[in-house]
Amino acid sequence: MTDHEPALSREGATSTDASGLQRAAGELGPETAGEPTAVYAAGLERLQRRDTRLDSYVDRYAARTHGMTASVIRALFSVANRPEVVSLAGGMPNISDLPLDVVGGALHDLVVSDGRRAMQYGSGQGEPVLREAICEVMKLEGISAHPDDVTVTVGSQQGLDLVTRLFCDPGDVVLCEAPSYVGALGVFRAYQCEVVHVAMDEHGLDPVALGEAVAALKAAGKKAKFLYTIPNFHNPAGVSQTLERRTRVLEIAQQADLLVVEDNPYGLLGFDGDPLPAMRSMDAERVVYLGSFSKTFAPGFRVGWVLAPHAVREKLVLAQESATLCPPTFSQYAVASYLHNHDWRGQIKIFREMYRERRDAMLAGLADHMPVGTSWTVPAGGFFVWLTLPPGLDSHAMLPRAVTARVAYVPGTGFYADGFGSRHLRLSYCFPTPERIIEGTRRLGEVMQYEADVLATFGTAVEGPGPRGDRLYDSPGANQR
Ligand SMILES: Cc1ncc(COP(=O)(O)O)c(C=O)c1O
Repeated sequence: MTDHEPALSREGATSTDASGLQRAAGELGPETAGEPTAVYAAGLERLQRRDTRLDSYVDRYAARTHGMTASVIRALFSVANRPEVVSLAGGMPNISDLPLDVVGGALHDLVVSDGRRAMQYGSGQGEPVLREAICEVMKLEGISAHPDDVTVTVGSQQGLDLVTRLFCDPGDVVLCEAPSYVGALGVFRAYQCEVVHVAMDEHGLDPVALGEAVAALKAAGKKAKFLYTIPNFHNPAGVSQTLERRTRVLEIAQQADLLVVEDNPYGLLGFDGDPLPAMRSMDAERVVYLGSFSKTFAPGFRVGWVLAPHAVREKLVLAQESATLCPPTFSQYAVASYLHNHDWRGQIKIFREMYRERRDAMLAGLADHMPVGTSWTVPAGGFFVWLTLPPGLDSHAMLPRAVTARVAYVPGTGFYADGFGSRHLRLSYCFPTPERIIEGTRRLGEVMQYEADVLATFGTAVEGPGPRGDRLYDSPGANQR
């Protein structure tokens, strides 16, 4: 499996029915015909552990936990990890090109030369040496910032959590692209926010749809606390926002007095040319920027950051102190040492080439193997392709059959707060080899063709219209079959 289990639990927490996957796990098991495999048994045990009837604390949990349900994606892990399954599901960064001897040497030096400081508690805002280096990294996307305005977080995921904690009370509205990052939806659900999706297309978030959403909220006597957006190489949609749209979105935000939370973990992983200017570089007062070393270095250090207007930064540090006392000091020194002593820009270039090769394999595989009526986005960076199934096919229902055919993906429903997305699925090309990616698309194509044939023979329910104005839903990316 590409995303490791914690990463999937990070991404997961949406839908509940895992039984089809447990069955698929059983069908995959070669060991003893008719008997559950160890994987099946483990899955079953997990399922039973999740059964709230067995939970004597069930009446005591806070209301905010009610949205925290286990994901079908989590169940998927137990089977997709198996070597015979091509997993196009998880978004785990591919760090096989990272020079472990260099990183290992740096960690050794850190412990020997500065271990007592590096293993001590640190500042709640994060270590100054790292915050200075972060400002250098952000310059690549046109951001000029002072280290005082940076708060280090435990991955950008914690940044998102802290920002939501600062701004959102239960019932507050957050605007998000349709679809949106499943880990963000999990945070918004945990803080009991109301998510309002805004349409996007192959050029990213649609400013007209944003204007309409803001107006509709106003007419209903509401105002969004912020717009959460992923302008570069979107997870899961794979598309990027054009410069013109960034400008227009910021104009609308200004008119509506709307805060923008710009989540940018993939911005430096573009395949063509220089990165576009970050939205934060265009409006320092209105944009809270989330950054991460998870995709440009390694996710295991769990180092991300928030760049926020000064007043917000003060509150963020207080929130960080109450959450963690301080972000992990050792990780921060490790990342700072890597940035100082290694050619990190060259390393990002290596990562980019490796991901580009995999993206090309994915696009070639899709062009060769997808049934007529399928369409998909064409990413210019990042990890993901967003695929729209031929009418009538359901990505959630199809998943157990795909896993049985030894290919895994993430069904689209996890990326919407409102239950839509069953005609979509997310494919990740970041981890498998190009050959495996092509094989994965071949297997997926066969499953889809089979489903389409069954549908043509017997008919089945077709999902209703997409969310209001969801262009990616009805008329997705440039490539179609
Ligand atoms: C859009 C987006 N935001 C945030 C994150 C969280 O990343 P991390 O916490 O590792 O920095 C991810 C991880 O996949 C992501 O795709």
